[in-house]
Amino acid sequence: MPGGVNSPVRAMGAIGRDPIFIERGEGPHVWDVDGNRYVDWVSSWGPLILGHAHPKVVEAVREAASRGTSYGAPTEGELELAAEVAERLASVEMVRMTSSGTEASMSAIRLARAATGRERIVKFAGAYHGHVDGLLAEAGSGMATAGVPASPGVTEAQAAMTIVVPWNDPEALAAAVDQASPAAIIAEPLPANMGVVPPAKGFIERLRELATQSGAILILDEVISGFRVARGGAQELLGVEADLTVMGKVIGGGLPAAAYGGRRELMERVAPAGDVYQAGTLSGNPLAVAAGLATLRELDGDSYRRLGELTGSLAAGLGRAAGERPVRIASVPGLLTVFFSAEPVRDFAGASACDADAYARFCRAMLDRDVYPPASQFEAWFPSLAHDEDAIEATVEAAAESFAEALDGRGDR
Ligand SMILES: Cc1ncc(COP(=O)(O)O)c(C=O)c1O
Repeated sequence: MPGGVNSPVRAMGAIGRDPIFIERGEGPHVWDVDGNRYVDWVSSWGPLILGHAHPKVVEAVREAASRGTSYGAPTEGELELAAEVAERLASVEMVRMTSSGTEASMSAIRLARAATGRERIVKFAGAYHGHVDGLLAEAGSGMATAGVPASPGVTEAQAAMTIVVPWNDPEALAAAVDQASPAAIIAEPLPANMGVVPPAKGFIERLRELATQSGAILILDEVISGFRVARGGAQELLGVEADLTVMGKVIGGGLPAAAYGGRRELMERVAPAGDVYQAGTLSGNPLAVAAGLATLRELDGDSYRRLGELTGSLAAGLGRAAGERPVRIASVPGLLTVFFSAEPVRDFAGASACDADAYARFCRAMLDRDVYPPASQFEAWFPSLAHDEDAIEATVEAAAESFAEALDGRGDR
């Protein structure tokens, strides 16, 4: 396997070590093949909002598998999941399921181009929407970790259709929209692929306004934030409505499922209701739907309150452990990043200016102390409802020693 992994951010090259091979997970913990147990803050990069091997999810998958693993025909479970999504997201009247977030964002863009008759797309620097050719410009996540602005293999024609704008810069956004007349503006409403960088006051409102004024489709990519930061995702938390929403991660409860959705008149353009083609052999797979439904049904108002509280308690503990060192903890309910920066991070330039070497030292020190943070400065930590006070205490204790190991005595203070 290239780099020893099936997806780049697992490789741990950015922190100068080999990847950890996992044997199993339970609640807030994973065990590696050498028998070490870690407090896991990666949570499969977001899907496992209930923690590893949640009994209700495991039972739902077992029960579904006993009836067959795939039919290539619709099932009642898909109707129930679509209804669950539409009930949570005011902006989503119809849903199409896919197997990955990449497919979902690719398909949302195709639909936006068909609906507007335009071609260009505006995206934000440091945002990641999957490995879609046209969206690999200044992308966050693994691209940012590797420090590459664009991927070879993307044609010039595809790259020319994408205009990249700094996050949290309303003037740059207005100028780009004015100049490009884009089919769509695609954004992570709570960006988490350059680390967690929430929108500055008024920015989301301006984004919505500029999309509406220019006739562009506003695609909000809630693959990370959806069903995590609030019951209705970032749209509920921030009070904004997308034209099209991209979903993933939590919606599949740890199995491969994603989706896109929006207003009926837009979604009815999708085949076979309409003429915009998009398909998938395993889309709406019954095991993934069962895992997603079992997960969403555990997530009520009380769950989101608890997840918010434990994220707050982790953020406060890490802040205390960092003390006066040049570290900033950015968090929203259910997401957190430890930035090795003296200044608050507002955009991709700020995230890129962080001390990635210090982060790497910190991360290695945490792993040595049986705590598993994301092995990149440009990723979020994913608290789950299985993370309890013990997990937080063990993490904060390890962090106090790891901050010292990463930053003290090296002229960094
Ligand atoms: C915001 C966002 N959009 C899209 C994707 C792509 O999803 P997938 O990895 O399922 O293709 C990701 C993956 O991390 C993501 O974080």
